[in-house]
Amino acid sequence: MTLLLIGPPEREQAWQPIFENAGEALIIGEDAVQDPLSITHLACWQPPAELGRYPNLKAVISTGAGVDQMPLLPPGVALTRTLAPGIDAMVRDWVLMATLMLHRDMPRYLEQSARSEWRPHPPRLARAGRVGIMGLGRIGRTAAASLSSLGFDVAGWSRSGRPLENVRVYAHADLSAFLARTDLLICLLPLTDETRGLLNADLFAKLPEGAALIHAGRGAQLDMEAMRHALDAGHLRAAMLDVTEPEPLPQSHWAWTDPRVIITPHVAAQTDATEGAHHALAAIRATRDGSALPGLVDQGRGY
Ligand code: GLV
Repeated sequence: MTLLLIGPPEREQAWQPIFENAGEALIIGEDAVQDPLSITHLACWQPPAELGRYPNLKAVISTGAGVDQMPLLPPGVALTRTLAPGIDAMVRDWVLMATLMLHRDMPRYLEQSARSEWRPHPPRLARAGRVGIMGLGRIGRTAAASLSSLGFDVAGWSRSGRPLENVRVYAHADLSAFLARTDLLICLLPLTDETRGLLNADLFAKLPEGAALIHAGRGAQLDMEAMRHALDAGHLRAAMLDVTEPEPLPQSHWAWTDPRVIITPHVAAQTDATEGAHHALAAIRATRDGSALPGLVDQGRGY
């Protein structure tokens, strides 16, 4: 088995010794491929257009947690997404930061501070914050556990509705009830046909007055104009976004200068190169053993 890695130089440098130690074949960059028939695995963020060049390809490994950037792969080629504890922990940390910032009124204090204005507002206890997490996969569950340990009142909304300790889980059909009890809405959903445009005017209207949005899913899930109207109407209090559509968000976009919106440039997490290499090695071993690939994506479902 041979893995072709297409990635930034830091990743290439990190993967080389790990593959060497593991005794697995690694080719870095398409230019270095001498025998396309030898390539069984491809690790990349986005694959090259000509995948037909690799007829023995068994799996494409997304080097990130998401796979919405991937095209539909040729029949018989599996798709996996990188499972790495570092990704879960980094997104959790970003979500904790955003939740605390919005719960403790940071957008308002940043604005006041820019005017050198000392004006306190009543602080809130964590337990007074009803957090609602959309998407209870690995990352959502990790964030839910930490938020609930801080004392937040945590609920989640997931397709499966599978129970989770210390979290009130709402099933897919119960979205309206979930929204009605959520002051701090956290979106961690993958981008699929069902979630595209989900954060829209209808959804915002179902949140309680003064709710806030924390978005680390995908930009295409959020209708920014609907968010702006909800902010202007005072229905939404503030938002913190790590993802936008498009990325980068154009310099002239209104959200950059709106004090109610805080934007980070898609940095909630980045795959740690060593963890990514170990995930890829696990995928190669699973292919060899005929066992389930780690992070296997249902390409019909989109995650
Ligand atoms: C980042 O958004 C990723 O999918 O890893």
